[in-house]
Amino acid sequence: FQVSLPKNEPVKTYMPGSPEQEALKAELERQLANPIEIPMIIGGKEVRSENKEKMICPHDHKKELGEYCIAGEKELLMAIEAAEGAKEEWENMPWEHRATIFLKAADLLTGKYRAKIAASCMLVQSKNAYQSEIDIICELADFLRFNPYYVQEIYKQQPNSTDGVWNRVEYRALDGFVAAITPFNFTSIGGNLSTAPAMVGNTVLWKPSSTAVLSNYYIMQILMEAGLPAGVINFVPSRGVDFGNVVISHPKMAGVHFTGSTNVFNGIWKQVGENLNKYVTYPRLVGETGGKDFIFAHESADVEALTCAIVLGAFEYQGQKCSAASRAYIPESLWSKLKGRLEEEIGKIKMGDVCDFTNLMNAVIDQKSFKNCQSYLSYAKESKDAEIIIGGGSDDSAGYFVEPTVIVAKTPAFKTMVEEIFGPIITIYVYPNDKLDEALKDCDTATPYGLTGAVFAQDRAAIIKMAKALDHAAGNFYINDKPTGAVVGQQPFGGSRGSGTNDKAGSAINLYRWMSQRAIKETL
Ligand code: SER
Repeated sequence: FQVSLPKNEPVKTYMPGSPEQEALKAELERQLANPIEIPMIIGGKEVRSENKEKMICPHDHKKELGEYCIAGEKELLMAIEAAEGAKEEWENMPWEHRATIFLKAADLLTGKYRAKIAASCMLVQSKNAYQSEIDIICELADFLRFNPYYVQEIYKQQPNSTDGVWNRVEYRALDGFVAAITPFNFTSIGGNLSTAPAMVGNTVLWKPSSTAVLSNYYIMQILMEAGLPAGVINFVPSRGVDFGNVVISHPKMAGVHFTGSTNVFNGIWKQVGENLNKYVTYPRLVGETGGKDFIFAHESADVEALTCAIVLGAFEYQGQKCSAASRAYIPESLWSKLKGRLEEEIGKIKMGDVCDFTNLMNAVIDQKSFKNCQSYLSYAKESKDAEIIIGGGSDDSAGYFVEPTVIVAKTPAFKTMVEEIFGPIITIYVYPNDKLDEALKDCDTATPYGLTGAVFAQDRAAIIKMAKALDHAAGNFYINDKPTGAVVGQQPFGGSRGSGTNDKAGSAINLYRWMSQRAIKETL
């Protein structure tokens, strides 16, 4: 049994009249007409509770997609018991057998369930067909195929033995269970955070984001159909406070695989610190957190490339990618041409329902996010230190719509230039051409984050200079490209500083974090 180096799943384009567009439209209609009730999955069984939450479409908030059951203390304890119970058999299963389950899940996802899964992500997370395709289909399938390949390569590595001595390393799972806490914005991350620790023999409690339960549940169903044994991954939508008190503080909690806000990750870290003397082993804390991702242009930059990067980098998926461009530094010599091109291109963007395939943008995820965007827009409108040059409007009468917005700030320290917003708002600071060094320093130090960033220049010496000046400012650094859209197996994803532990998703580094090695020396 050999896992060969996978190929990335080809992206379908959903062109008008294509069979995939027809299938997707039929699924959208079917799911809209048939609201469902989503149970928890604990020890392979469906578990229901009276405590339920509604699921809606963010772009049409009167439309209900159904409801999901919420795990309380009782169900979370049941899930821990199920994870602990399944552990020994799962960990001792030869890795090839574990791998086949995830490889099969990737085939089910890209095959017979493609339309169903893509539609669920469009409706509940308000993604257009393309954004849904690159997330829940292609990226997730890539994680499910590349991780078994990396696991295989890790397991091959053994230390040297000498005459009369046989040295070896056992790659065991962690001593306990793993908690996967996953975000709404990338369903692929939900699928990866829960399955990566499982691939190397861990059992998992999966807490999906409250605004992405529908699509995450369908992934869970696919994993079960692919043969995932009962109790290996337990699907427990729950409130943060209950999950923290019951799961994060549990003595057998051996690792947290997290994507979400810096604040929540900091809270988990503190809670782990407070419980340190209770744990059987030091928990591994792996997190991808906030960001304030940048685009930085040199005067030699190509304005067309820059325009494209700003429009797609800032506004695809309503600026809710962790990698989305939300601040830009532009030299004054390029500004008037760039401004004109941004007005033209952003003026063409259509925004609305996901079922209309001509909409590039849809709604932000919920009312909280909508109000957060509004408060930043009001702040910019009232300030003398900034001007909104494009967009600035918002409307939540039918769905949570925020216009693609460009703010020009007079100072690089302006609030929207340095704080994470997580919406379709980018702030631009135009710097004097002879102040490149100062602007680079601002870019490097203005925020606590270090997730993604892009520099634009045609001058090679300028590229080298910018890359050096910003060497810790972005774990994913792009040259002459937008800062979004990392591909598994090509650009391992993750950042440092306030953006996380930089244990690159979809790479061997991440998988090592879920292993506890035993080094054995045998004298012969
Ligand atoms: N991996 C995504 C991107 O690169 C962000 O999570 O856009």
